[in-house]
Amino acid sequence: VPPPPPGPPAFTGAKLVDDAAHPWRAARKNDIRGPCPGLNTLASHGYLPRDGVASPVQIIEAVQEAFNMENFAARFTTYAAHLVDGNPITDLISIGEKTRKTGPDPPSPAIVGGISNHGTFEGDASMTRGDAFFGDNHSLNEPLFEQFKDFSNRYGDGFYNLTVAAELRHQRILQSMATNPEFSIMGLRHITVFAEAAFPLNIFVDGRTDKPQHLPLADAENFFKDMRFPRGFFRASAPVSSEGVESVFTAHPVPAGRNVGVNNFVPDNRLGGIFDFCLFYTQFINTTIRGLYPNPTGVLRRNLDINLKFMFESLGPTPPCPQVFPWGEN
Ligand code: HEM
Ligand code: MG
Repeated sequence: VPPPPPGPPAFTGAKLVDDAAHPWRAARKNDIRGPCPGLNTLASHGYLPRDGVASPVQIIEAVQEAFNMENFAARFTTYAAHLVDGNPITDLISIGEKTRKTGPDPPSPAIVGGISNHGTFEGDASMTRGDAFFGDNHSLNEPLFEQFKDFSNRYGDGFYNLTVAAELRHQRILQSMATNPEFSIMGLRHITVFAEAAFPLNIFVDGRTDKPQHLPLADAENFFKDMRFPRGFFRASAPVSSEGVESVFTAHPVPAGRNVGVNNFVPDNRLGGIFDFCLFYTQFINTTIRGLYPNPTGVLRRNLDINLKFMFESLGPTPPCPQVFPWGEN
């Protein structure tokens, strides 16, 4: 039975997390890494299993312990990912590609593709990864990282800050609109595409800083390229997640939608998004998850129900709408 998620830790201040118990080691041949620089770093320091396969509880504990990620944000992100990309039977998820290490798959159309799977959680216009349409959607893309640095120099004087986040976020959306005929930012992706631009401002910035939301480029390079803490890194001094995301969005608001051919972006709110979190949640359950699991039975159904409850509870003490039950309430 999938165990419940951990609550917030007792101590949530800054502390050294690049410590002797968590030495960095390069990924070995069969270790899995993927599109998330945060989870990649945690695996390379042993806060997550170094092979890149973990349970939701391990992920939540790791992001809280090593990054001081706020409890509700950690739970929401983890269960949303686990429900679409993880194995509900074995309670394991890959932080990258699909792998046999997550155990036998439930029947198709379930994918259990790991977090690199395109279109479930992973999506287009990532800052440092290419769109799936062009091939590799998970490795650090050198030209895109050069653009990350260029924007940080031009708009942030050598730091990745809120202004840089807003401008780079928009630049990547414009690039995808102009080049990717299948570009899509709908539903969950409309939310994560903006949140992920804000994460590094809060989570990758050393907790002892006197310049909040200013990430030195050298530190960004450690995380994004080497999947490594800056030497002697201290986690944030209070629980954090996507603080500042509103200003990233407001600088260049782009509605949920998709390309119908290049340079032809069509707003499409059928899966919800930033403007309508309840619609997003409802459609994520009734369209995305039910699409993968149209008629689950037995242990699969039981575990999906448990994870759906964990995801609903991650919406906080005042959820935007009542819990949705994709296959009925019992
Ligand atoms: C991207 C999952 C925590 C930072 C992603 C993506 C996934 C993911 C699936 C790919 C989305 C895409 O860009 O297409 C998760 C899960 C987490 C988690 C399940 C569990 C709590 C974190 C943490 C950080 C982080 C703690 C710390 C900063 C990022 C960033 C990106 C990203 C910056 C965007 C990379 C880019 O745009 O190039 N994450 N993540 N994530 N994640 Fe995470
Ligand atoms: Mg992506």
